[in-house]
Amino acid sequence: MLLRHRIVHAPMTRLRATDDGFVTKLMTEYYTQRSCIPGSLMISDATFAGEKSGGYPNNPRCFTEEHAKAWIPVTNAIHRNKSYLFMQLWPLPGEIKDEYREDPEKLKEIAYNDCPMDPLGLPAGVESFDTVQGINIYKKKYVSKTDIQEYIHDFVNAASLATHVAKADGVELHQANGFLLDRFVLGGLGDQCDPDYRGPLENRCRFALEVLEAVTQEIGQERVGYRISPYSAWALQTDTRETHIYLMKEISKRFPKLAYIHAIEPRQYWSGHKRIKSEVNTFYLQKYWKGPFITAGGYDPESAMEAADERGTLVAFGRQYIANPDLVYRVHNNLPLNPYKRSEFYTPKSTLGYIDYPFSQEYLTATKERQPNEGK
Ligand SMILES: Cc1cc2nc3c(=O)[nH]c(=O)nc-3n(C[C@H](O)[C@H](O)[C@H](O)COP(=O)(O)O)c2cc1C
Repeated sequence: MLLRHRIVHAPMTRLRATDDGFVTKLMTEYYTQRSCIPGSLMISDATFAGEKSGGYPNNPRCFTEEHAKAWIPVTNAIHRNKSYLFMQLWPLPGEIKDEYREDPEKLKEIAYNDCPMDPLGLPAGVESFDTVQGINIYKKKYVSKTDIQEYIHDFVNAASLATHVAKADGVELHQANGFLLDRFVLGGLGDQCDPDYRGPLENRCRFALEVLEAVTQEIGQERVGYRISPYSAWALQTDTRETHIYLMKEISKRFPKLAYIHAIEPRQYWSGHKRIKSEVNTFYLQKYWKGPFITAGGYDPESAMEAADERGTLVAFGRQYIANPDLVYRVHNNLPLNPYKRSEFYTPKSTLGYIDYPFSQEYLTATKERQPNEGK
């Protein structure tokens, strides 16, 4: 994979898949637009890795051959643009209660506001490990070794389908934002899991490292990225520094060729983009992980440039990439950015707020000049 710049498309749940999780033409159009600058890295919507990992309607899935085949137009479009796709794989924090699984309309009411970042930098609608908007949608279930093995199997199966059938360039394993792996790593399950997976940090990180081991065995270390969020609201409940240093040391020792570590920063900007300089960041981890490092969270072009220059990182953009299909071109040419519309982030299956953000006139003119015979 040869990236031509340091801007990365952050993974974003957008609910534009079919009710039963198949990728749509709309998604192909979105990723075609966003990957228009050659050498761009797209990290996909968080994608359900198995039956027990998911449940939300309109969220993409990749655990059957059919799901994976539905991704092919997206991958092909991105590759035609000479860009790359890493598919983010996640399980939700637990298994969804049957009453929600059987009544997707009920689930929609609460799930569709599950934004990991609200204007205060806290996860919107997710107040604790157990609830979404104050409602506990997950089964109270002890996670046994057998369950853990099933989850690992799901990750491996999804990673294999993503790379071998959907032809993604790799997968990103999602430990961030309080989802299942994060719960284990941060001790969020209390005594509700097998004793070998709780308590001391070696135990808490065991599941995540086993997933990494199994997935890298299956598709190779170079095709696997890993996302963490040491400062997510859940993480504030515990001191995560020691835990994440341990994780980075183990990853460096056991998976030195991993594609990248992707770390979410505490948010540096409040709404209105008033800059707040923060000494608190994830860069301490670069002492323990020397490979490619992606930083994400609250960047604008100026602060992104600083991080890239001073820390040698790649920088993932979320909301600005939603609103700017030609974000890379705009940043490179110092052009103003389209504002994003938060109310349309999660509108299921809608074109609005998804593929209707305009390209800059400058980009359109430049690409037309490069293709003078287009349309003849
Ligand atoms: C609409 C939306 C959906 C998101 N979905 C995911 C997701 O599926 N997986 C994930 O790891 N992060 C998700 N995030 C977090 C982003 O990847 C990113 O870390 C966050 O938006 C901060 O970056 P920004 O300030 O550039 O927007 C989402 C963010 C937004 C705005």
